[in-house]
Order: sequence, then structure tokens, then C-alpha cells
Amino acid sequence: MEQISAKHNIQRCFVLSLCLCATNTCFAAGKEVEASFTLLIIIAGLLIIQTLLIAGLQRSRLKNKAARNLLKLHQKELEQKIQERTHSLHQKNNELETAIQNQKIIAIQLQDTKRHLQTMINSVPDILVGVAADGNVTYWNIAAFEKTGVSFDKALGTHILTALPQLPLSDEQLTTIIRSQKPFINQQLQQIENEEPRFYDLRIYPLNSGQSFNEQASGAVIQLKDVTKRIQLENMMIQNEKMSSLGELAAGIAHEMNNPLGVILHNVQNIIRRTTLELQSNTEVAAKQNINFNEVTNYLNVREIPQFLDNIKEAGERAGKIVSNMLEFSHNNHNEKNWVDIPKLIEQAIEFNRNAGFAEQSKMADIKVTTSFDSEFPQIFASAAELQQVFLNLLRNAYQALTSDDYEHPGELYVNISGHQKKSDVIIEISDNGPGIKENIKDHIFEPFFTTKEVGKGTGLGLSVSYFIITEHHKGKISVSSQYGKGATFKIRLPMSGERQFSFDI
Ligand SMILES: Nc1ncnc2c1ncn2[C@@H]1O[C@H](COP(=O)(O)OP(=O)(O)OP(=O)(O)O)[C@@H](O)[C@H]1O
Ligand SMILES: [Mg+2]
Repeated sequence: MEQISAKHNIQRCFVLSLCLCATNTCFAAGKEVEASFTLLIIIAGLLIIQTLLIAGLQRSRLKNKAARNLLKLHQKELEQKIQERTHSLHQKNNELETAIQNQKIIAIQLQDTKRHLQTMINSVPDILVGVAADGNVTYWNIAAFEKTGVSFDKALGTHILTALPQLPLSDEQLTTIIRSQKPFINQQLQQIENEEPRFYDLRIYPLNSGQSFNEQASGAVIQLKDVTKRIQLENMMIQNEKMSSLGELAAGIAHEMNNPLGVILHNVQNIIRRTTLELQSNTEVAAKQNINFNEVTNYLNVREIPQFLDNIKEAGERAGKIVSNMLEFSHNNHNEKNWVDIPKLIEQAIEFNRNAGFAEQSKMADIKVTTSFDSEFPQIFASAAELQQVFLNLLRNAYQALTSDDYEHPGELYVNISGHQKKSDVIIEISDNGPGIKENIKDHIFEPFFTTKEVGKGTGLGLSVSYFIITEHHKGKISVSSQYGKGATFKIRLPMSGERQFSFDI
């Protein structure tokens, strides 16, 4: 606006200057009338010009105003648009921020899920390995690291047969399994680790995308499960069964032997009775036959016949004892529990071992076996046949230890068996003063197949079967204490009721 009024002032000055110039020009000419007329015309002309100029100015002012209004309008529209754009930008920004937040949450959830899955896989005690179609390792769990010593980073990308060379598979076989899309199972693979046999179940699960075979998405999960404990337990059970059927067989034989043995004993008794001078009827019967009975007995004595007969009788009685022992043994149903008299079982086991004809038998006469039980030692609810088996194993181990060739004890050899009650349990201890057990093998003696005896002398199952019977079938405990060179003591603790309500320390 100020600019426009400044322009008008300039225009007015310009018109007035023109008038003054014209007036001066007229005076200079000296022609007054003509000058006035001319002046008038000039003024009129100038006025017209001024009017025209003013009108032009006015028009341009109006135009300017309209332009300004238009400008304002555009400005407003622009502002409006900017506002709208800013608003929508804000909105977009908010949406973007929300999306980023969501993305972050999803990333955290994904991480959590990944961690959870890894923890789950790593919690599995079996070796779990992921492989791609070419057999290269894609996943390697902690158990795989622990068993092989190969770290995750080292295993990743290497071929499975390099990372896990003990796999009994060729590269081609693995490829065939992956392509077949069917699980492959190979049970009880045997391996020697630290000079001990271990057993594994191998399972290979090809990755199944649900469609036909696709090289890119294929691969497999390989699982190696250590089943050594299960196999050992199964072997123990088999051994247990075998021993119980051996017991049954022995009992069957004993039953069959009972009758002929009875006949032998009965008849030998009769021969002794009918050849003795002490019985008057013998002399009378001989006299009726015109025989001098004194001479007969003389002859018999000279030929040591009564001695032979006594031997037969003694042997027959011993056989009878063995047979009745065996029969008693068989009367105990293998798994059936009943009220059991432990001291009696121990006596039977001692007797059985003495007569069983074991290799160490010849030297057993040198061993002093003593038993001492509390006067009120209670009966316990247990399987007599199974406990019998335990006592036989422990006694036999003690005898074998005492009579082993590489052991020479300067003094008396003994086996002590004692028993007492402790709260609701009974404790039985079997001690010997044999060579004892070396510290480095003490932890292994209850393991199946662990033996220090020569091939053919020990299978290494006696103690593992006993352990199984005491701990699994009777909820008891069995332990050993021994100092090498100073004998060994096996301690058994059994609940009287056959059930264990509380845990205990042996
Ligand atoms: N009283 C003992 N004194 C010294 N060592 C013993 C005694 N009892 C057991 N052992 C040790 O424990 C090992 C395992 O005993 P276990 O009864 O399980 O098997 P084994 O006697 O060798 O064979 P099996 O009993 O099958 O004939 C024995 O080989 C022996 O080394
Ligand atoms: Mg043994």
C-alpha cells in the first residue's frame, strides 16, 4: 500500500512539473493569449493524461488487490494443505512407530521362542543333530557337544560323518534315508567307550515339508539315545529270570531225588541194623541159618563194611539236607512276598553254598562262618526266594575272595553275618576278612558285567542282580564298605513291612 501511494505522489509531481514547464515555455514565447489558450489545452491534456494515469493506476491497484486476494486464497489453501499433509504425516509417523514397536515385540517373541526351542532341544539328554540334504550339520545340541567334545561352531557346516564318525552309516545311505522321507531306526548299537560297552538307539527323521521331495528344504534330524542303563537292566532281569528258573529246575530235580534218596537211606539204615551185634534178633536169625553171627560181624569189621555203610548214611543224610533245602527254596514263589525269617534264610544259604559243589568248596573248610542275630530279630515281608539269591551271591563272593589263589591270609579266615533291627527296618551285615576291594573299583562292583574274576569264574552279575532285588523289589538299600587288604562288609537295609514310607541313609 505504501508503495502504491508513493507511486501516486511521483505521478502528481511529474504532472505538476510538466505544467510548470509549459507555463514557462508560454511566457518565454511572449504571446499571452495564445499562450493562455495553449496552456489551457496543455493543462487540459495534462489533466486528461493525469486522469488516465489515475484510472490506470486505479485499475492496476484493483488488479493488485485481486491478485493479493488470490494470493491470500492460495496461501490459505496452501496452509490448509500443509496442515492436512502434516496431519497425515503425523498419522503415518504414528502408524510407523506402532509398526516398529510391533516389529520389536515380534522380534523379542521370536528370540524368546528360539531360546525356548533351543532350551528344549538342549534339555534332551540324547544327541540331537540337524543335517541338510548334503549331510552338513545345521544344528548340534549340548548333548552332542558333551558326548563328542566337538563344539557347536566347529560342528556347524561340517559333514555329519566327520562330526560324528561313530554313526554306522555311509554318505549314500544317509542321502537315501533323507530322500525316502521315512524314519530310519537302528536299535542297540554297541560301542566301546572308556573300555566299557555302551548301547545306543539311532533314529533318523527326514525333514518332511509335506510336499514332494525338495532338495532345498530337505534334511534330517538325527537322534542318538544312550540306552545302556535300559539294556543293563534288561540283562539283569533276564539273569534274574534265568536264576529263578534255575532254582525251579533245581527244585524239580530235588523233588525227583527225594524218593530214591529216601529208599537209599532207609535201606542203608536197615543194613546197619541187621549187621550189628547189638540187635539180638540178628544173632538168632543167623543161628537158624547155621551161621555164626560173631564170625560174620568179625569179617564185616575186618573189611570195614560198617565204616562204608556209615559213609553212605552220612552222604545220604547230607544229600537229604541239600534236597530239603532246595525244596524249601522252591516253595518260595519267586516274586511272591510273605513273612520271611531272615536268620533261617541265611542258614539255608550257608548250607547251600557249602554243598553246592562250587570250585572253592575244597578250601571252604578253612573258613569259619558265624552268625549273630538280635534275639528278637523280626520277620520281614519280602520275597524269600529273591533274598535267598542275594545272600547266596554275597556269601559266595566272600568265599571266593577268601579262597582266591592270589590271597594268602596269615590268620583265621572268617565270614561274619549279623542282623539287628533299626526302627522299622532290619539291617543285615555280611563281613569277611578277605583281600577287600580296591578304591578304584568300589564304585563299579554293582554294575552289571563288572567282574575282576577270570573268564568262566564270574559273570559280574551277582551284585547287580542283588542290587536290583534289594532296591527295586524291596525298596531297601545295599552298600559296601571296604579297605583294600582289610576285608569287605556288605550292608543291607530292608523295611520290615516291605514298603518304604520315608527315605533313609544307610
Ligand atoms: N567280598 C568281596 N571281597 C572282595 N571283592 C569282592 C567281594 N564281593 C564282590 N567283590 C568284587 O566285586 C566284583 C563283582 O561282584 P559280582 O558278584 O557282581 O560278580 P562276580 O562275583 O565277579 O561274578 P558272578 O557273581 O556273576 O559269578 C567281583 O568280581 C569282585 O571283584
Ligand atoms: Mg559274585
